[in-house]
Amino acid sequence: MGHVIIFDHPLIQHKISLLRSVDTSCKEFRELVKEITMFMCYESLRNMPLKEVEITTPLTTCKTNVLAGPEIAVVPILRAGLGMVEGVLLLVPTAKVGHIGMYRDEVTMQPHEYYCKLPLNIAERQIIVVDPMLATGGSAVAAINFIKERGGKNIKFMCMIAAPEGLKVLQEAHPDIDIYCAHMDEGLNENCYILPGLGDAGDRIFGTK
Ligand code: PRP
Ligand code: URA
Repeated sequence: MGHVIIFDHPLIQHKISLLRSVDTSCKEFRELVKEITMFMCYESLRNMPLKEVEITTPLTTCKTNVLAGPEIAVVPILRAGLGMVEGVLLLVPTAKVGHIGMYRDEVTMQPHEYYCKLPLNIAERQIIVVDPMLATGGSAVAAINFIKERGGKNIKFMCMIAAPEGLKVLQEAHPDIDIYCAHMDEGLNENCYILPGLGDAGDRIFGTK
């Protein structure tokens, strides 16, 4: 069974509060999403395997640890997930990036896929799927279905804000994955928006409303 990690770190809580505010500008919103993603990514890679290598320092040689792999793929769910990519790449600059295009039908709330392109050797990679919002869970479940159909196995999901309903749906559909949420909110409104939430993450990142 995968783990669910909800972050209680004061810095993350502070930044999530800023993220929610209607007074936060598009520029500030992007920066906050990037910063929170960096904190979460750092924690999510805590158990990455290491291997010992010998290094020559200016004074001597020593045995020391470096990452042993697997190589990482970050996969944003378009559009809003794009806002989290830079936060991962700042910590893991060698990561490859896949894209899954998905939007929620505004009437049925069902996810629709319009694009999927994943890095080579996806089956061997540590995959981090990123999307700021886990609302009904439909988009995350569908995205991870696509990745598994294409051979992906070792998957983590990372979001800014989750609704309990979406978390339950995702855990039931994909019990093997680890889920990282910067904050767990109260629930969904009648339009399946998260309350108190932060509004439409894609619109706030890209300034489209
Ligand atoms: C948002 C968000 C998630 C999805 C979450 O995307 O970024 O992908 O909704 O909702 P769910 O858990 O109920 O599926 P949206 O469909 O608004 O597309 P966008 O990123 O292109 O704006
Ligand atoms: N997608 C968003 O961007 N915000 C929500 O609250 C729910 C889904």
